[in-house]
Amino acid sequence: MKPDTDCTPRDWASQPPYVYPDYKSTVLRGPLKPLVPLPHTLSELTGPVYGHESVGPLDDDLTRNGAKNGQPLGERIVVAGRVLDEAGRPVPDTLIEIWQANAAGRYVHGADQHDAPLDPNFLGAGRCVTDDEGRYRFITIKPGAYPWRNHPNAWRPPHIHLSLFGPSFVTRLVTQMYFPGDPLLAHDPIYQGAPEGARERMISRFSLELTRPEWALGYEFDIVLRGPAATPVET
Ligand SMILES: [Fe+2]
Repeated sequence: MKPDTDCTPRDWASQPPYVYPDYKSTVLRGPLKPLVPLPHTLSELTGPVYGHESVGPLDDDLTRNGAKNGQPLGERIVVAGRVLDEAGRPVPDTLIEIWQANAAGRYVHGADQHDAPLDPNFLGAGRCVTDDEGRYRFITIKPGAYPWRNHPNAWRPPHIHLSLFGPSFVTRLVTQMYFPGDPLLAHDPIYQGAPEGARERMISRFSLELTRPEWALGYEFDIVLRGPAATPVET
């Protein structure tokens, strides 16, 4: 049973299972019984979503929104794309929040004790709202790989976490974006947990059009919310 409440069901064939034993924490947290759909209340569907009106001008530039005394270290990149529905139509007014490790593979978070340096000029979080054409764009630093103890010698491939909020709190999607040609993808249970043929949709595309001469490489990443081309969501 699938807990969809809108008229376009999620294509579960392109989504990772809730429990994927190679990704060990899913065994502990994944539901083992069929999900029970809960009808949404009016306030859940129409209530205000924090953030849409308070996105600041630097929020989409991670090379500047955490700067204290200089620029963050690492490879500056542009990440941009569109949010699309199942018919390829743009989805405007979607709040996109991202978070990521710095160039050395370290998060600004107390739980991250990876022996790699923090960057005093990099917070690793940003947000923006899609425009009328469903477009978004971030300036950031290419994240580094980091170890995560899921299994012996486990390393997460460089990735950017994304959260998308639609018009209400119950319309949320969380996923991850990867980089093309990364050899760690073949060894990553989170990436491999999504079905073959769908997991590739989580890999961004290098884009010379988005690349700014003498400044930053560009990566294109479209997020499809529904339908047979849907972007896999996080388990
Ligand atoms: Fe991560």
